[in-house]
Amino acid sequence: MIAIDHLNYHYPDGTAALNGVSLRVADGEFVLICGANGSGKTTLIRHLNAILTPTSGTVRVNGLLATDHPIQVRRQVGMLFQDVDSQLIGETVREDVAFGPENLGLTGAELTLRVDWALTAMGLAHLADKPCYQLSGGEKRRVAIAGVLAVQPHTLIFDEPFSNLDYRGVQDTLRQLITLHRAGHTVIVTSHDVEKVIAQVDRVILMDRGELAAAGAPAAVLPLLDRHGVRPPCAYLAGIEAQPWFSA
Ligand SMILES: Nc1ncnc2c1ncn2[C@@H]1O[C@H](COP(=O)(O)OP(=O)(O)O)[C@@H](O)[C@H]1O
Ligand SMILES: [Mg+2]
Repeated sequence: MIAIDHLNYHYPDGTAALNGVSLRVADGEFVLICGANGSGKTTLIRHLNAILTPTSGTVRVNGLLATDHPIQVRRQVGMLFQDVDSQLIGETVREDVAFGPENLGLTGAELTLRVDWALTAMGLAHLADKPCYQLSGGEKRRVAIAGVLAVQPHTLIFDEPFSNLDYRGVQDTLRQLITLHRAGHTVIVTSHDVEKVIAQVDRVILMDRGELAAAGAPAAVLPLLDRHGVRPPCAYLAGIEAQPWFSA
């Protein structure tokens, strides 16, 4: 479980990006964190794997304080950055996916098994020896996910995974998220675009100017979106049930 209590974060330039955020994410939940640009979504999730250290307040992952145990916490919480290019560091797909498990100390056959498993899980086995720079945007994103999966974190966080994706790209990404959730992972997604994922998530967290404005089941939070600067899904505006972006 993830437990955030009274979290405040001020950037070095003085920007108060998070103010008194308290939140629980249960094991196996599929959660959307939404909010307008600048509402604090990215700042919030960067505390969950100890990239940022709270100005005050606490972040615990399965009881471990993220600031005291960053390495253990990063094994449990994997993060997909919005900018995929900044996440790919290996020359080839295989090298990139191997980076995380190598850092965990895996070597030899154990490392090969783990990397092959992650490549297969993301449908990348045929691209294993391709240079990362030659991949399409969608392929790069899959490599980035494979790299995070290879560390076998229980929680996976995706920051704005739908940005700059076309229709098929959104569908592919959604399928990946749903597969991970069904496999038992806790999945946390941030987006200012609620439409794409609302039909799938268990719970919606609504951020507004660094504060947690609301948290609850989609039906409970949807009526509050507009007043906090988030566009409600078309289906909600039309008074009908949210439709998934793909047929399973
Ligand atoms: N590196 C930074 N230095 C100073 N202020 C920042 C930095 N990154 C983000 N901010 C500010 O913190 C606030 C929250 O930003 P962010 O968490 O990126 O929001 P979101 O992901 O919801 O768009 C914004 O006011 C933003 O301008
Ligand atoms: Mg952001």
